[in-house]
Amino acid sequence: MVRVGIIGCGGMADAHLGGLAKMEDVRLVGFCDVVERKAEEKGRQHGAPHFTDVRRLIDRTHPDAVYILLPPFAHGEAERAALEAGVPFFTEKPVGNDLARCREIAAEVERTGLLTGVGYMNRYRAGVRRAREVFADDPPVVAYGGWLGGTPRGGGSGDGIGSWWVVRAKSGGQFVEQVSHTVDLVRYVCGEAAEVFMHAVPPRTFNREVAEAYTIDDAAMLSLRFRRGGVADIWSSCAVNAGGGVSLTVHGSRHTAHFTAWEHHLRLVAQGAPDETIPGEPDIFALEDREFLAAVADRDPGRVATPYPDGVKTLELILAAEESARTGRSVRLD
Ligand SMILES: NC(=O)c1ccc[n+]([C@@H]2O[C@H](COP(=O)([O-])OP(=O)(O)OC[C@H]3O[C@@H](n4cnc5c(N)ncnc54)[C@H](O)[C@@H]3O)[C@@H](O)[C@H]2O)c1
Repeated sequence: MVRVGIIGCGGMADAHLGGLAKMEDVRLVGFCDVVERKAEEKGRQHGAPHFTDVRRLIDRTHPDAVYILLPPFAHGEAERAALEAGVPFFTEKPVGNDLARCREIAAEVERTGLLTGVGYMNRYRAGVRRAREVFADDPPVVAYGGWLGGTPRGGGSGDGIGSWWVVRAKSGGQFVEQVSHTVDLVRYVCGEAAEVFMHAVPPRTFNREVAEAYTIDDAAMLSLRFRRGGVADIWSSCAVNAGGGVSLTVHGSRHTAHFTAWEHHLRLVAQGAPDETIPGEPDIFALEDREFLAAVADRDPGRVATPYPDGVKTLELILAAEESARTGRSVRLD
């Protein structure tokens, strides 16, 4: 039986609880949120106590692991509390929006050897793992993809796109908060970047009818050069209202991988061989949670696809690109 505490009781708590609540070897021992009503509601639903303070949740419920399901700006305190108590933690992506703080936490994770995981769930997909295997031997020449969506509408936290999402100081913007999935996937499948450059379309260039607080870029295009020699373009926009979606295409010399939609369905084309198709798993959060909690139960960090310090590297790449958008100069990472 693995005892699990939940920190942050919003949209992603629902996404993870869908699977966690059905796992027979998982016990939900406590819920924490700064908004007491939200923690209380989850506690009532799952028959567990609720808290508004992370340390109290850990002290009173003795979890074997905690899930940190907080918006980018709210990270730090929960990770430090878990580290101090030696409690393995899973955190949703991105690891935060403050790189110095995330690097401090990563250093402490490495020093203590605490088991951690970051919610880049696409790394658990069979299609993604197949592509990683293929491109290990066939270095990517060109890759391109990203997330394109419509003008953010709607209201507060928990309504899908919460009010924090459109506030750059809170979410970090669309690249940090959302397209970080594609950046992480590119790192996982193609390898590390050597140099990045970004063009950004400033807030309200196209999105004019938006909330007063809206301060994120309307669009951005990141170009990178891989250490292995190839190049990639990764894009974001939240100002295209006639459709866009999620995609990533990777071309090696001998293979092409097309990932489509949120599920990242794969069509793999190989020179001189039949195409392979691997559908994306719809229940990917449950699959990711299964692996993380098995790693906790078996004390086997090898089962975790993205340990915390690796999640920090994805943030580092994006923030380097954003620095380039501000200065107009490319940034070297190697
Ligand atoms: N993996 C994915 O595909 C995916 C999808 C959506 C969101 N996310 C990520 O998950 C994270 C959470 O997103 P969400 O949609 O659940 O947001 P949300 O706004 O719905 O929920 C966040 C909750 O955290 C609470 N909170 C804020 N600060 C807190 C603190 N210091 N201590 C305790 N509780 C606090 C809020 O009151 C809220 O209930 C974000 O980083 C987001 O990028 C990941």
